[in-house]
Amino acid sequence: MRNPILASSGTFGYGLEFASLVDLNQLGGIVVKGLSRNPIAGNPAPRIVETASGMLNSVGLQNVGVEAFIRDKLPALAKLDTPVFANVFGYAVDDYVAVIRALEQAEGPAGYELNVSCPNTHCGGMQFGADAALLGEVVAAAKAAARRRPLIVKLSPNVTDIAAQARAAERAGADAVSLINTLQGLAVDAAARTPRLGGGYGGLSGPAVKPVALRMAHQVAQAVSIPVIGMGGIACGEDAAEFLLCGASAVQVGTASFWDPARPAAAVRELDDFLDKHKIASAAELIGALRMPGP
Ligand SMILES: Cc1cc2nc3c(=O)[nH]c(=O)nc-3n(C[C@H](O)[C@H](O)[C@H](O)COP(=O)(O)O)c2cc1C
Repeated sequence: MRNPILASSGTFGYGLEFASLVDLNQLGGIVVKGLSRNPIAGNPAPRIVETASGMLNSVGLQNVGVEAFIRDKLPALAKLDTPVFANVFGYAVDDYVAVIRALEQAEGPAGYELNVSCPNTHCGGMQFGADAALLGEVVAAAKAAARRRPLIVKLSPNVTDIAAQARAAERAGADAVSLINTLQGLAVDAAARTPRLGGGYGGLSGPAVKPVALRMAHQVAQAVSIPVIGMGGIACGEDAAEFLLCGASAVQVGTASFWDPARPAAAVRELDDFLDKHKIASAAELIGALRMPGP
């Protein structure tokens, strides 16, 4: 990657929708919307609602399905001069494996990001990412399928001990971990006595989650020896620097693209400005350099 700032999954479409607004090649990478075995129509509207310093979404993992992605999106994405990562999800281990196997036959993706914040329909709907054994099972199967490309495991923050989940992913063969996905939340319309989102509960993202995400990135970076990719509320270059200091080697910008599609590319320039201002030779010098108070 030419720089450590990527656009995050689900907040940047399939990347191509943004091509007329920003020079995609300025980004360190693009993670496309989550891909499933079959197309998914998603949840009823409204799907997003603004909250204090954040956003709650319940998109319901709408996507075109892996075959249509390979046929209709990947050829144009493959021409970009920036790595494109395929975000993959499923409701059973077999689903994840099927999506990766299909992508393995195609040219274009630089790697895979496994979204494990999905209910496992074979285990009473428990999230893959919420249980170390389930997580290990899906990561090991995905790793065996991903022969050509690296596997990033995107951790769920809706757990008690995210470091333990990161270690389980590393043990099962993850090449890197990314975090955080959205935090489960609920927005209520008091007058109507209903949830504000058509799908009921939603996922919280944006500046509101940044302190939680920084704490989790710091804990995970201490727990594993594979690279960590941080995200959650990043909106500018200095936010990115904060995650690097916590031990992330790269970061992703998500919700900020909803208020300014040029934010990921702007954050790249702002991170350079931050390095210049503080006379730091390269972003790599920031990684893990946070000075925490002693016990
Ligand atoms: C509307 C929306 C859709 C998302 N869809 C996905 C998805 O398909 N797969 C995934 O792994 N994460 C998905 N995410 C999570 C983001 O990639 C990111 O992890 C999270 O929003 C935190 O970063 P942020 O605060 O910068 O948005 C989605 C987030 C939003 C707001």
